[in-house]
Order: sequence, then C-alpha cells, then structure tokens
Amino acid sequence: MTSDAVRIGVAGLGRAFMLMLPTFRNDPRIKLVAAAAPRAASRAAFEAEFGGRTYATVEELAKDADVDLIYIATPHQMHAEHVDAAARGGKHILVDKPLAVSMGDADHMVAAAEAAGVHLIVGPSHSFDPPVSLARTLIESGEFGAVRMVQALNYTDFLYRPRRPEELRTEEGGGVLFSQGIHQIDIVRLLCGGRARSVTAQTGAWDPDRPTEGAYCALMDFQSGAFASLTYSGYAHFDSDCWMNDVGELGGPKSPEGYGQARKALRDLDPGAEAQLKSTRTYGAGREPLAPKHNEHFGPILVSCDRADLRLTPDGVEIFADTKRSFRKAPLDPAPRKPVIDAVVAAVCESISPAQTGRWGRASLEVCHAILQSAERRKTILLTRQCGTTPKEIHS
Ligand SMILES: NC(=O)c1ccc[n+]([C@@H]2O[C@H](COP(=O)([O-])OP(=O)(O)OC[C@H]3O[C@@H](n4cnc5c(N)ncnc54)[C@H](O)[C@@H]3O)[C@@H](O)[C@H]2O)c1
Repeated sequence: MTSDAVRIGVAGLGRAFMLMLPTFRNDPRIKLVAAAAPRAASRAAFEAEFGGRTYATVEELAKDADVDLIYIATPHQMHAEHVDAAARGGKHILVDKPLAVSMGDADHMVAAAEAAGVHLIVGPSHSFDPPVSLARTLIESGEFGAVRMVQALNYTDFLYRPRRPEELRTEEGGGVLFSQGIHQIDIVRLLCGGRARSVTAQTGAWDPDRPTEGAYCALMDFQSGAFASLTYSGYAHFDSDCWMNDVGELGGPKSPEGYGQARKALRDLDPGAEAQLKSTRTYGAGREPLAPKHNEHFGPILVSCDRADLRLTPDGVEIFADTKRSFRKAPLDPAPRKPVIDAVVAAVCESISPAQTGRWGRASLEVCHAILQSAERRKTILLTRQCGTTPKEIHS
C-alpha cells in the first residue's frame, strides 16, 4: 500500500455494490479507484462519481498497479474465477458472501489466496453487524457465563425479490441457503465459537414457479457444547421485522404499506422481464439506499448463556440477567458497514485478519451444504471443515 487510504477496485457494480455505497462514500479510510463491469452504463456511472479507471474484465482490474484490494461483488458462481484473478494480481480480497457455491471452489480460493500471500475476507455479511459484535464482546467478557443455546429466526420476502433465472436454481447457488442462510450461519457460528460439529435439517421448496429452497429449519451443535436452532422462510408472508422494532434488514423503518409489495411487483412478469426489473436495483439506475437510523440486522436472535439471555436488536443488545433487565447500545456510524472497512484496513495496513477469512467462509459454506444434504438424506451430517473464531484457531 502506497497512499494513506486503502485503494479499492470493485468487481461487479450491481445490487451488492449499491448496498456498500453509503459505507464507501462515508469512510475516509478507503478510496474507490477502479472498477470492472461488463455494462458500459455502470462503468460510466462509476467514472462520473469516483473519477477512477474502469475495465470490462476483472482480469484487467487485477493488473492495475494502483489497487490494494479488490471487492468482489459479482454473482456467487463467478467468485472463484474472480478471487483467482485477484490473487494472481497480488491484490488483497474482500469477496461478498457466500465465499463460493461448491466446496471445491472454496478450497481452490483459500489455497490461491494463501499461495499469493494476500488476505481473503468474506464480507459484508451480517456477522459484521455492530449488535453481533457487541453480543460477542459480552460473551467473551465471561460476565454471563457460557453460551448454551442460540435461537435465530428470519421471515422475509427473499424468494419474491426480482431474480435472474439462475438465482432460482439451487445447483447454481440459488435459493435461500447460499444467499441468506449463510448470514445466519455466520452469526450463529460467531456466537457459539465457530466450530460446529453436526447439522440436522429440513428444507422447503414449496412454490413450483420458484423451484428452489425458500425455507429451512436446522439444528446445529458445537464443540463448545452449545446448540443452535436456525429457521428461515423467504415466502413473503409473515415478516419477522415486526419483532425487530419494525426496522428492516438494512436499518431503515418498515412501513405497513409495504406489505405484499414483493409478490405484487412480480405478478405477470416472465423471467426476462423479472431480470430486467432486477437491473433497476443496480448501480447507475438512480435508486439509492437511504441513510439508515439503526444498524442492519438479520432477524431475531436470542442467545442463552448461564446467567442471562441476550436479545440482539437493531440498536444493541437487551440483557435479561438473573435479577435485572438492561440494554447496551451498539455504535451506529454514518458508514453503516464500518466494521467491514475496519476489517479491510486492519488486514491491508496491519496484516491482522478478522474472523471472517476464506477458511471461515468455507466452514460456513460447509454448513449450507450440510443443511441441504441432511434434508435430502434425512440424516444428521457431521462437519469436518470447521474453524474457530480467532486467526490462530482459524488456521489450526
Ligand atoms: N452482503 C450483502 O448484503 C449482499 C447483498 C446482495 C448481494 N450480495 C452478494 O453479492 C453478489 C452479487 O449479487 P447481486 O445481488 O449484487 O447481483 P447483481 O446481479 O445485482 O450484481 C452483480 C454484478 O456483477 C456484474 N458482473 C457479471 N459478470 C461480471 C464480470 N465477469 N466481471 C465484472 N462484473 C460482472 C453484473 O453486471 C452485475 O452488475 C452475490 O454473491 C450476493 O450473494 C451480498
């Protein structure tokens, strides 16, 4: 790194990049200097806003000598190829979740980054949310004893947001497991010490017009002795944000008038028109995310420790201890995903890894596959690729 700010090149200027924009615009420790995108309109919008260099391919971006780190925000199934290119170019890497779709690709990516001596961070993911970090700090303080049980639940409209056809095919990374389950798995692993032992699960694919998993229930157990129940439904009926103080996933208010909008917007659209609708949510299409008043979240999460239950909220952690109920506030920054940038800066400038490394992302991906396998085979699946939460444990 040669300048003060970490110089970031972005691969993929779609929805994920849009969600990072408020953070990129508000954190002076980073500078967007280049981007790769196949669409000329996205490249032009990037040049107009950031004045940087743009390329049609990630391979060209990876050769840009003035880039310290590449943020890979391309579709899941391209992550392996793009991580490989970035590692070959000697760039540090922030790859959006999930690390990959197949475990083979995940192995390849971890090996490529380690061979090149570059940091590979998997994020953003909701495991970076400040209330999750606060809960982790409270747990590690030992004040409330060991974590015994976690309940994580989320009911959303995920399956009815506009999709490209492959996003509705499980084998290509479609469905709720790879895009949504991975957030919940990351959070639960972080709160339970990282090393899961087994998974027993059921999945649901109930809509023949969107023939991929839209729901699951999973029971995980951990080396620490803790166990966790994970439930997700993306079928756009109940909305568990009403149990999160009516705050949506991105920290904004949830209005009752929005109920049912996801399904209504898709009514009578063919797959081409649906993919077109998705592209209206992309960078340069004019729809910007609003500055949030609360932290992002991933649905209700309750952590039972020996001497307290901890309820994660969009604003912090509510503590139900033996004789006292109290609240600890989590920080809210104008750069909503500041913890992701903290991890980037620590990695690039001080060579300190966060928990969410490539090996960590591979371990969470293993849980996604275990949920699918457990449901299909009606068996408990033993896990073999897990790691702990600290850099030392991640590599042991
Ligand atoms: N962490 C989060 O909150 C979050 C939210 C949304 C998506 N994501 C993740 O981000 C990734 C992208 O999802 P999305 O919803 O933004 O998809 P998207 O389709 O909106 O965006 C992907 C972008 O990649 C571009 N692209 C395709 N091929 C490319 C190539 N060869 N080189 C460079 N760019 C290329 C596309 O033009 C598109 O703009 C997925 O892995 C998804 O899981 C994360």
